[in-house]
Amino acid sequence: MNGNPSIIKLEDITKIYYQGKLELKILKNINLEIFKGDYLSIMGPSGSGKSTLMNILGCLDKATSGKYLFENRDISNFSDLQLSEIRSQKIGFIFQSFNLLHNYNIFENVVMPSIYNKNNPFTKAKERAKELIDLVGLSSRINHRPNELSGGQQQRVAIARALINNPHIVLADEPTGNLDSESTSEILKIFEKLNRENNVTIVIITHEAEISKITNRQIIIKDGIIHQ
Ligand SMILES: Nc1ncnc2c1ncn2[C@@H]1O[C@H](COP(=O)(O)OP(=O)(O)O)[C@@H](O)[C@H]1O
Ligand SMILES: [Mg+2]
Repeated sequence: MNGNPSIIKLEDITKIYYQGKLELKILKNINLEIFKGDYLSIMGPSGSGKSTLMNILGCLDKATSGKYLFENRDISNFSDLQLSEIRSQKIGFIFQSFNLLHNYNIFENVVMPSIYNKNNPFTKAKERAKELIDLVGLSSRINHRPNELSGGQQQRVAIARALINNPHIVLADEPTGNLDSESTSEILKIFEKLNRENNVTIVIITHEAEISKITNRQIIIKDGIIHQ
């Protein structure tokens, strides 16, 4: 507890995959609360269940059992459609491989998620996209295609895109995993600024201790178990 409102609370979350008769328990009774303004890292070795956890946090996948509260609302039994609304309106995603659309320019990539959010009118989203592209220092590249940018620049575009719907939380899965050390520190500086100056709630998932050290709060996951 830190006095800030709760964004996500997981209670006794498990995730089991089945391979034939084999039961693979990937997440084991996860209890985790994320608060507004948190700058949190979830660190663990490869295969420890980080992406599985991120997919559940991000409403991209459902837990096998347990309770998921999003802003104090129990969404454990929400339909796929209801979950997709939470995802598009409340959550921003950043992935290791940037996941930009290569046939669209930077501006179009950033504005794209607003099209799926009925609460973000297009005229407003266009203005916001320009502001965000400026914020990540890419105004001079606004009409360029992703393949004309470096990896670090592409990830900056992905950060701007993640913020277009003013999400209540941003989830970044190995956001610097494909980047050199210089681009990594650029990206981490942007996260820190967003958290400190704009009060954006950010969760970074990483296997690197060096990266997890820079966040305000750290959690470790090992073999599907959280150590706080
Ligand atoms: N769809 C799936 N079916 C079966 N096993 C899976 C599936 N997805 C992930 N796993 C297994 O779950 C474990 C955790 O995977 P993952 O969450 O991707 O780990 P991390 O992101 O920490 O590297 C791994 O052993 C992986 O093989
Ligand atoms: Mg992973």
